[in-house]
Amino acid sequence: MIDHLPPDDAALAHRYAHPFADGRAFVRANMISSLDGSATAAGRSGGLGGDGDRRVFRVLREQADVVLVGAATVRDEDYGTPEHPALAIVTRGEVAHTPRLYPADGAEPLVYSGGGSSVDLREVLADLYRRGFRRVLAEGGPGVLGALLADGLVDELCLTVAPMLVGGDGRRIVTGPDLPTEHWRRLQILGDDEGYLYTRWAR
Ligand SMILES: NC(=O)c1ccc[n+]([C@@H]2O[C@H](COP(=O)([O-])OP(=O)(O)OC[C@H]3O[C@@H](n4cnc5c(N)ncnc54)[C@H](OP(=O)(O)O)[C@@H]3O)[C@@H](O)[C@H]2O)c1
Repeated sequence: MIDHLPPDDAALAHRYAHPFADGRAFVRANMISSLDGSATAAGRSGGLGGDGDRRVFRVLREQADVVLVGAATVRDEDYGTPEHPALAIVTRGEVAHTPRLYPADGAEPLVYSGGGSSVDLREVLADLYRRGFRRVLAEGGPGVLGALLADGLVDELCLTVAPMLVGGDGRRIVTGPDLPTEHWRRLQILGDDEGYLYTRWAR
């Protein structure tokens, strides 16, 4: 029997309380996948989402101190900088100064650039922690998530499974180097009337 996604946001937040870790940031990833394992529909993750997923997305952001995301997702999904939480972007180059990322009178993103090469994601997390961001929400994309996982830097995965088959050659929610086939621990499965599953896993 699968519990129903709680109808009120306070109860939902309770189900998704973002843990803390001692002396370091606790990294939670949030991703969505189709039934056939694609991280996108028509090139964007938004094509997979529904009302419940958008609620979970919002509640997870409310729980976090900072969102960590790759520059490609920022470009493909036209990210803006929210008032809360802070936004941190990793890039090997630069991010375009769009009005959505750099609103005239709003918050600006933190940009970690390797100036042509990769940044050390462990260092990025350490810097975020030093700045007081203890709860990190990694929103992808698959490349950044794969790199974080390869370095053993992800504590928890929140994965929404969308009741859709999309075919095509969309990437999976994790790309990059092979990972050790370790078993993750299932923490929670919720469902809704639209057929979505909201799963939560711990390393
Ligand atoms: N299903 C989901 O939940 C979900 C979530 C997020 C995104 N997506 C989808 O995933 C796609 C994008 O994913 P992606 O895997 O191509 O890209 P991504 O993981 O969002 O970003 C990759 C980019 O991040 C930067 N980057 C990654 N690791 C870095 C490091 N160690 N140091 C410095 N920069 C680093 C580089 O940016 P530069 O190119 O600027 O150097 C790299 O090209 C989009 O289609 C998006 O819609 C799906």
